Amino acid sequence: MKKCPLHEFCGGCDYQGIPYPQQLKMKQERVNSLLSEFGKVSSIIACEDPYNYRNKAQFSFGYDEKGKIISGYNMSGSHRIVPVDECMLVNEGINKIYSSVKRIIISNHISVYDERRSKGCLRHVLIRSTSLGEYMVVLVTASAFLMKKEKIVNDILKYNPEVKTIIHNINEGKTSAVLGKRNIILYGKGYITDELCGMRFRISPSSFYQVNRIQTSILYEKAIEAAEMNKYDTLIDAYCGTGTITLSASGYVKKAIGIEANHFAVKDAEINKKINDAGNCEFVCEDAGRYVDLLAKRKTHIDIVIMDPPRGGSDERFLSSVMKMGPEKIIYISCNPVTLKRDLHVLKKHYDISIIQPVDMFPFTEHVETVCCLYHQKKDFISVPYEPENGDYLKQLK
Ligand SMILES: C[S@@+](CC[C@H](N)C(=O)[O-])C[C@H]1O[C@@H](n2cnc3c(N)ncnc32)[C@H](O)[C@@H]1O
Repeated sequence: MKKCPLHEFCGGCDYQGIPYPQQLKMKQERVNSLLSEFGKVSSIIACEDPYNYRNKAQFSFGYDEKGKIISGYNMSGSHRIVPVDECMLVNEGINKIYSSVKRIIISNHISVYDERRSKGCLRHVLIRSTSLGEYMVVLVTASAFLMKKEKIVNDILKYNPEVKTIIHNINEGKTSAVLGKRNIILYGKGYITDELCGMRFRISPSSFYQVNRIQTSILYEKAIEAAEMNKYDTLIDAYCGTGTITLSASGYVKKAIGIEANHFAVKDAEINKKINDAGNCEFVCEDAGRYVDLLAKRKTHIDIVIMDPPRGGSDERFLSSVMKMGPEKIIYISCNPVTLKRDLHVLKKHYDISIIQPVDMFPFTEHVETVCCLYHQKKDFISVPYEPENGDYLKQLK
């Protein structure tokens, strides 16, 4: 078993030093203890290779006590930077680009951010990669000024021709969030493209995208299989990110509607719809609870809801509106079994829970993904196809 020399300091890997089969056992027990009250929990789906699985990493830059530039991960629960040369969870291409960017920053004497004095330029470097061998580098600065911009871009490209786009992100806030709101493209198109589940997806810096590609395909496959869709169904994919699930499911249904609050992700989803020629998909940039509430008030018929909320889970408005709408099936994909348990307690008033499938997306961390399938207790369901008069679903709701 590989062991990271930094595991005692970094805090990124909760399960360092624990053999992978033991990690799986711990995750299985955690999901069992939280969710077995709702039904049988299936065996966790393991990662074939638990190392170098991440397609995204973000490194912080700062100074040590002697004023020397350091870079690495923020120590968990603090703003202290643990110097990191390479990380065994991220893919090798990212590790290579990270060392190169670090050398470029140091050799060009770029000032980095001193958090105590709120002074300096470079705060973080975020690197993303895709299965098509494309890499994105995002340079996050504390103000709109990026020192020696052209020289940095030229050097990154000279030593890393696999980098397809370089972005300058401005994060002026006193915050632990890595990215600020403004992105300026310094090189390339401002996005990279991945291939997932036989489709192509454009990913821009501020959009959510799953970090473990192989396990994501398995997770989506399980969710789509559990939904047992048919060509008369209208489906909602709530918290849809760049539309990966909406588009993967769209071939099985009459209509698929993705709902997402982040406008960068919705823009990606709209383009992903075009790239994949999925004319039966629509994307809405809106709070999922607010939008589903609107649909419920208009008595819109929805057959299936797939929901994949962030770690905090869903909210009262979303859950009560979904129950009011009463889709036949709900597929709940969760990255946090604690909030999943809380939300299942609400949904179980009207739904029976038939599948609880944990999937290990994040080896060496305590995180675990779970897919649940819920069936409406009303047994006399007739699937009624939704036929908007002018074919434009969204106009009907405005
Ligand atoms: C766990 S990600 C899932 C994304 C997508 N399903 C995927 O697999 O890539 C959760 C997504 O929910 C979005 N989100 C968070 N709160 C939201 C809300 N209240 N309404 C709609 N979307 C929200 C986030 O921006 C993020 O893209």
